[in-house]
Amino acid sequence: MTGLLPPISLLAQTHSTNDVATRAARSGADHGACWVADQQSAGRGRRQIDGVRRAWFSPPGANLYMSLLLKPRLEPSMLATLTLAAAVGARQALAEASGLGDKIWIKWPNDLYIGDKKLAGLLSEGVLDGMKIVGAVVGIGVNVNLGDDELPDEIASIATSLKIATGQSHDRFSLTLRIREHIMARSRQLEQLGLATILEDFRPHDLSVGRAIQVMHAGAWAAGVSRGIADSGGLAVVLDSGERLVVQAGEVRFLPKSS
Ligand code: BTN
Repeated sequence: MTGLLPPISLLAQTHSTNDVATRAARSGADHGACWVADQQSAGRGRRQIDGVRRAWFSPPGANLYMSLLLKPRLEPSMLATLTLAAAVGARQALAEASGLGDKIWIKWPNDLYIGDKKLAGLLSEGVLDGMKIVGAVVGIGVNVNLGDDELPDEIASIATSLKIATGQSHDRFSLTLRIREHIMARSRQLEQLGLATILEDFRPHDLSVGRAIQVMHAGAWAAGVSRGIADSGGLAVVLDSGERLVVQAGEVRFLPKSS
């Protein structure tokens, strides 16, 4: 990494670090600026129900809630791919820091999983200057030091944490530094070398390949099999009807594995 990076702002509590970062971005904050909160009172997830984003479980003292401002020199049409680069960077940072290596997977487009349980999620939001997109705020929530018995009932069967997976606690600030470093490196890679090189590092960790899934298609859930990330950055799917498509955005649901 060359040059000085903007400081990391530590907040005891906030609504959502993505909101703080977006406001700061509009006031001229720099590429690489980062906000971390010990807890969030209105942390947002990516999933939407009736147009409202689902809450992201954000208790104090245990997890990582961070937002990173990125202003890469990318065509506006390429900004959507920044979230894939961020997922690759966050995965690598967590894999190295925890020693879990290849046990951490990416569920397209940008959730991080250990086995079939979610470890972390990313929420990327564009920053507008008038009608022009000037960058993106990448929000990252990681379950770090929560024990099995501390996960709320709604997510206990679908979520995990670094502590549950490794049996030990992890320092949240060093994770923050490492995640920022890796995501910024991937953002530079996307800018200089293009999406294909990011996909080379996404594909070996692509959790959905060959799995039975459901995707939103023509306004309804459709079942099929994932063929993994496509060259465009979308998800290639063969529907049970035989139709082949590439889903560019949205949610993917895994169907139970057949035994
Ligand atoms: C997901 O649903 O998988 C995305 C979750 C993103 C949560 C993080 S926590 C820090 C940042 N601030 C928010 O309000 N959301 C993101």
